[in-house]
Amino acid sequence: MENSAFTSTLITWYREHHRDLPWRRTNDPYKIWLSEVILQQTRVSQGLPYYLAFCERFPSILELANASEQEVLRLWQGLGYYSRARNLHRCAKQIVEHHHGKFPTTYHELIQLPGIGDYTASAIASFAFMRTTPVIDGNVFRVLSRMFGILDDIAVPKTRTTFKEHSAKLMKYAAPDQYNQAIMEFGAIQCTPKQPKCAQCPVNNFCYAYSNELQHRLPVKTKKNTARKRYFYYYVLKSGSRLFLKRREHKDIWQGLYDFMLLESSTEMDPVTILTDNLADPRIMDQLVIGEPSAEYRHKLTHQHINARFMEIEAADEKAFDDWQQAFDLQAYSKSEVHELPKPILINNYLKADIF
Ligand code: ADE
Repeated sequence: MENSAFTSTLITWYREHHRDLPWRRTNDPYKIWLSEVILQQTRVSQGLPYYLAFCERFPSILELANASEQEVLRLWQGLGYYSRARNLHRCAKQIVEHHHGKFPTTYHELIQLPGIGDYTASAIASFAFMRTTPVIDGNVFRVLSRMFGILDDIAVPKTRTTFKEHSAKLMKYAAPDQYNQAIMEFGAIQCTPKQPKCAQCPVNNFCYAYSNELQHRLPVKTKKNTARKRYFYYYVLKSGSRLFLKRREHKDIWQGLYDFMLLESSTEMDPVTILTDNLADPRIMDQLVIGEPSAEYRHKLTHQHINARFMEIEAADEKAFDDWQQAFDLQAYSKSEVHELPKPILINNYLKADIF
């Protein structure tokens, strides 16, 4: 199939079938950027309420730049990959401080900004500024590999360039914003990973994968995802209605979010044993009321599987926790303060189920 014919069929398909989504009705680079950062590794149905909440709370980049990181993280809570939220905030500050609050308009300037990589720079440049910058995401890999029989391994970084060059050729025959939206939408709702709708596909006659029955083998991706297992033992220190939490400062998952006193192991342990093993003076346990360990809470991230258990530990007087407070950087918070803190969804689930 000619490149021009493929592109015009794709655009016609898009006009008829695309979902009406709020970020497709604007050319405001701020809103486009916000939607693209939210939608990385997130389905549209999950991301949409977050997009609306961010637009309402931060109608322009100025409000976002002026907010605290903690507030941004709290609004982001539940979306995961929290470094996206921290970079969002840093990027807003940088644009306000160094670009007079206006987004740069070229791919090369955009990609210098925090959290803006190849995909997001291309998306903003094409959607907001009509630049001919092809976006490459999982949808684009799938559509082009199947349609044109591109057999390169998409786990290999330089394969991205091959697909980009191919998409750039197709893109010449349409408006850049329309082409990029259309090819991603085609991958999202027509040429889907598991059950592509090949019988009703407008380009099935010319599709390499369809004619060779290779839809389920394409795109080629070799890299295995070996998830690391982590066992988290949380000790929920409690005095009256106050709970002790800490801010996660280290470079690890959930940086900037709040959780409880934590001991970690790479193998499954008994929560009481690991606690006593880590205390300078285990005799303190005699003054405390120690609850039963909770059931397991499981949380899967792309490269890590977390298995968590919680144990409530209660003392009549907050002073009983002085040593632990120092050693684990804990602070006491009231129930309403705990509600306001940004927390990993795992912690939120526990609080909802077991405590509050
Ligand atoms: N996923 C990532 N970007 C998107 C967009 N602009 N529209 C729909 N889904 C998307």
